[in-house]
Amino acid sequence: MTLNTQQWLETDRHTIFHASTPLGQYARGEMSGRIITGAEGIRIYDSQGTELIDAFAGLYCVNIGYGRMEMAEAMYEQAKKLAYYHTYVGHSNEALITLSRRILDKAPAGMSKVYYGLSGSDANETQIKLVWYYNNVLGRPDKKKIISRDRGYHGSSVAAGSLTGLPLFHAHFDLPLERIHHTVAPYYYRRADGAMSEQEFSRWCADQLEAKILAEGPDTVAAMIAEPVLGTGGIVPPPAGYWPEIRRVLDKYDVLLIADEVVCGFGRLGAEFGSLYYDMKPDLMTVAKGLTSAYQPLSGVIVGEKVWQTLERGTDDWGAIGHGYTYSGHPMGAAAALCNLDIIDRENLVGNAEGTGAHLQQRMKATFAGHPLVGDCRGIGLLAALEFSSNPASRTHLDPALKVGPRIAAACLEQGLIARAMPHGDILGFAPPLVVTPNDIDDIVARTEKAVNTVTDELIRSGDLRAR
Ligand SMILES: Cc1ncc(COP(=O)(O)O)c(C=O)c1O
Repeated sequence: MTLNTQQWLETDRHTIFHASTPLGQYARGEMSGRIITGAEGIRIYDSQGTELIDAFAGLYCVNIGYGRMEMAEAMYEQAKKLAYYHTYVGHSNEALITLSRRILDKAPAGMSKVYYGLSGSDANETQIKLVWYYNNVLGRPDKKKIISRDRGYHGSSVAAGSLTGLPLFHAHFDLPLERIHHTVAPYYYRRADGAMSEQEFSRWCADQLEAKILAEGPDTVAAMIAEPVLGTGGIVPPPAGYWPEIRRVLDKYDVLLIADEVVCGFGRLGAEFGSLYYDMKPDLMTVAKGLTSAYQPLSGVIVGEKVWQTLERGTDDWGAIGHGYTYSGHPMGAAAALCNLDIIDRENLVGNAEGTGAHLQQRMKATFAGHPLVGDCRGIGLLAALEFSSNPASRTHLDPALKVGPRIAAACLEQGLIARAMPHGDILGFAPPLVVTPNDIDDIVARTEKAVNTVTDELIRSGDLRAR
């Protein structure tokens, strides 16, 4: 028996606990769902025949685009050969060994080993354990605090969710954990002092970090974790000079830097890694999403030589490391990642992220400069955001009750376009697959313009925005 869409959704409401969803409203049928039935290139299709351009690549992860038969074949071949064996006590598989060499060859100099997980969240859990273990080996049992940033996003499990700097992920879950602290976000558009230059603001952010380290006590602060470009917190590229300023402070107090490359890694900024683009010189890196373009779940913790040497000393003294997941180094994930990296290299998708990314930034700026509802238009590579404001000249925020971000995302859907209303603030995010073309970008920007203008007109009519 085949079910129609309404019947599928009815069963869905009674069986599935959906992520990031108002549970009661959805279960009671007060909000709609969508059943995705297929996808090709930058487009997805639903069970009612709707075609949508996915300008957010799923959750900024389907970098090579949808429907790649080559990926299906690589996974099929691997499944026939070896669908699973664990990687405990020195067991390995050829796909994983080949992949690890490839990742380390692409990574910044000084990266030594890769530990594998399945998600960005679990990889960041691993990062925390490694940093704590590292300081125990070094005889510094008090040096355990981790500094993250307001608006950082690092996952939603217990420790990774604590690293995340968004109230929604803490409130009512009794998070963050005690050892996790947050410093200011490098959010130049939202700076309090409008007269500050980007360089001055970067310096101010570094001063805030230093003040935090001193207040907590440098002997208690182990690491800082940060995305090269703030992602889910608002898609905010760092202001000029930010990373060198931060690195200077971390070096002064012997604090490790974990670069969370889950979004930026493998090309999104038009460089292999955000760490390379901004010369962050991280001690540890987290990768996920773009590693397999989400065709299989796979994440990695890339451990730099300095930390690695210390971990080795620890296990020489204390025995095998007490860390491992059943699915660590899963051959299916490795096969998918290898094929994905082949495609990225062969089709020069990193170069496309740079070239077509520049086109995206230029089109966005040209279209929305001076728009009465757009306070900021920012981005880098194939990451972009529009931040809405009731008065762009004074950077005044809109009343959250107006829900302007979600309304514009809904208006985009009406135009056949998926752009993401970011969870904190009236911000519309774009992160199309890295296969997007300049023509696709023109189409995406044109649809976005219509959606933004529709909501602008509504706001003018309701008296919530003044016409210019
Ligand atoms: C920068 C960053 N780190 C970690 C994560 C968590 O990854 P996952 O959802 O796979 O647990 C995300 C997810 O969006 C992310 O953007």
